[in-house]
Amino acid sequence: MKQIGTKIVRLHSVESTNNYAANVIKTGNWLSGTVILADEQTGGRGQRGNSWYSEAGMNLTASILLKQDNLSVNASFDLSKYVAVVLIDVLSKYGIQGQIKWPNDILVNEQKIAGVLIENQLKQTLVDSSIIGIGLNVNQQEFEGLNATSIRVFNGNFTPVLDVVMTFIQAFNARINESAEKLHKEYLSNLWGYQQVVEYTVVASNTEMKGIIQGIDPQGFLEIEENGTIKKYDLKEVQFKLRNTF
Ligand code: BTN
Repeated sequence: MKQIGTKIVRLHSVESTNNYAANVIKTGNWLSGTVILADEQTGGRGQRGNSWYSEAGMNLTASILLKQDNLSVNASFDLSKYVAVVLIDVLSKYGIQGQIKWPNDILVNEQKIAGVLIENQLKQTLVDSSIIGIGLNVNQQEFEGLNATSIRVFNGNFTPVLDVVMTFIQAFNARINESAEKLHKEYLSNLWGYQQVVEYTVVASNTEMKGIIQGIDPQGFLEIEENGTIKKYDLKEVQFKLRNTF
């Protein structure tokens, strides 16, 4: 992994930092590790085509540009794991024990505190560059019907967003020499439902199931043991039941 925070760009208002980052990459003139921050996004995007809402000035909404060397598309889930583990590190610096909900939502007490949207630019079978979009709820206190939370809801403190940005950059850079095996272990040890019975809906057949999360394969598929056999699921194929849905 490469260092980040080599350059920091702060925008007041932008549609989406990921879109902004994609345009920066298109210019061909950019520095790997650049962090693009926005006080406000007018069209923040989430996974599965969802929107990402974040109260202006209250939370971390950022995209990081990374140049990749020789990262095969098949190993690109390693980046997802890396970012999820780093977000767990960040929360622990604020006294919060988070959990990773596969693939890379971050939960506290089964409520969502952060989300990640990674968009890769490919060159044949390799990832040429990655945009890592991060939304981390810092000071927002009302979430209008969403099952979401923030650092402030949890520890009661107002934390300047830039403080969290610096903590994130440090936490990211602190793991750059770590092996893929170590990261995989860290990911599993913070994974929501790992080696536990969980309830979920298999989207294609709309059936309710119970199974045990047994792992994640190298491509990032979730492995669930159902009646003694391991089934692999992709992102859109299963929907979990949490305390509340979101
Ligand atoms: C998700 O959980 O669905 C992913 C949410 C990702 C949100 C961040 S906020 C900064 C960056 N810009 C975007 O438009 N999305 C990501």
